[in-house]
Amino acid sequence: MKARYAVRWAAEHGLPRLGLRALHRSGDPFARLLCGEEGRTDPYSLIEQVRAAGGVQTTRTGYAAYDYQLCRAILRDRRFGVRTPIDPAVPAPLRRYAERVVLPPNPIEAPSMFMMDPPEHSRLRKPVASAFTPRAVARLGDRVREVTTELLDAMPAHGSADLIGDFAAQVPIAVIAEMLGFPAADRELFLRWGDVVTPLLDVGISWRAHRRAMAATAAMQGYLAAHIEKLRHEPREDIFSVLVSSGELNTTELMASANVLMGAGFETTMNLIGNAIPLLLAHPDQLDLVRAEPQRWPGAIEEVLRFDPPVQMTARRVLEPVDLGAGVHLQPGKSIIVSLAGANRDSAKFPDPHRFDVTRANAKEHLSFGSGIHACIGASLARLEAVHALPALFERFPDLRLDGDPRRRGLSTLHGYEHMPARLGRPADARAVPSAPSGDRMPGS
Ligand code: HEM
Repeated sequence: MKARYAVRWAAEHGLPRLGLRALHRSGDPFARLLCGEEGRTDPYSLIEQVRAAGGVQTTRTGYAAYDYQLCRAILRDRRFGVRTPIDPAVPAPLRRYAERVVLPPNPIEAPSMFMMDPPEHSRLRKPVASAFTPRAVARLGDRVREVTTELLDAMPAHGSADLIGDFAAQVPIAVIAEMLGFPAADRELFLRWGDVVTPLLDVGISWRAHRRAMAATAAMQGYLAAHIEKLRHEPREDIFSVLVSSGELNTTELMASANVLMGAGFETTMNLIGNAIPLLLAHPDQLDLVRAEPQRWPGAIEEVLRFDPPVQMTARRVLEPVDLGAGVHLQPGKSIIVSLAGANRDSAKFPDPHRFDVTRANAKEHLSFGSGIHACIGASLARLEAVHALPALFERFPDLRLDGDPRRRGLSTLHGYEHMPARLGRPADARAVPSAPSGDRMPGS
């Protein structure tokens, strides 16, 4: 099994890794963005360098787009499908062999809906999406508030905390684990698994990282199989149990859906909450504004999503010849990176794009939740969690300060922090968490 996984790694990550590293050594900004340290810590200056070279970049394996209108159009265009795990540029014999290697279910392996085109995509997405309507999500408001209060109560008064491990990660993991019916005691297990599985979203990860991800996905597979079996015999009311009972998806598809919801449901929202904290602390005028006018929190969260998106990029495959005008022709079979972070910093769409401005009128038009048929199912839930968690944190600890530099995770697709030491300072007297600024009505609901 190990040898088969090694072949799969070589085709999916090993060869692209070699190519990207060679380009990186030559100073290529695209390669620096995908596999260099700067791409992880400050991708935005590299994005501007790549953007300056033209609307669509031609890379060794395909293309990359950074401008707002183009990225949005690609995501909404049926001439583009989801990317294949193994790039078409990999030599055919290796590619054909590697494609036959079946990996344990994971968010970027079919039948995960991320990796499916219509009509299969629609069949897999529909039953899951129906559990995430804005109305259904708004009903979770009280639970999100309770979870937030419990976490803040558990923080040491006048003490220190890691705002990622103790807070930003805990709010979304608690909510999604409950939605999927997992016992509270297993949350830490999922945090650990998530930590080693999410690197699979990147291009060119190391063999060691791939092995660790495979071990975790195999363990998750066993856990999920037992969980699904249990729900079949003892149905409950959580959304996953309803999905299992509906009979619309088979066991492999149910595992894939649970994987996507776990992966997409907490890592990303953890990054949203985590990215917001240093941004607001670094812009005290903006923080003062939302403190003075709490109805501005939803707008501030949209601006965080635009300015420092938790998912920096996605990718598509060109299905048929596409003429983008101005002499740009895309060839079928090639992949195209769609830079959500680049789109969000496009000055043609967002004037003065590198300024963090919680009053920005069109911030909500960011592409951080994608667009088109794969647009994020959990956007309302992520907004709900952030709009409760962030005001509650800043209200409970008015003197909150970072204690040194927070540490970024070493990933390029998902953009967030892994560790954020902070001095909490004196807690505010009131123990109640402020209610969401506009009742439980979320932006966009
Ligand atoms: C701030 C938090 C979040 C961000 C930034 C985010 C971002 C995204 C993006 C960019 C996509 C589209 C990917 C593509 O087009 O290739 C996506 C899809 C998806 N998201 Fe989210 N997401 C977040 C939270 C959530 C939550 C909380 C859930 C569920 C609990 C969720 C579930 C999904 C699912 C199931 C898809 C796949 C949709 C499809 O392929 O049809 N996401 N998300």
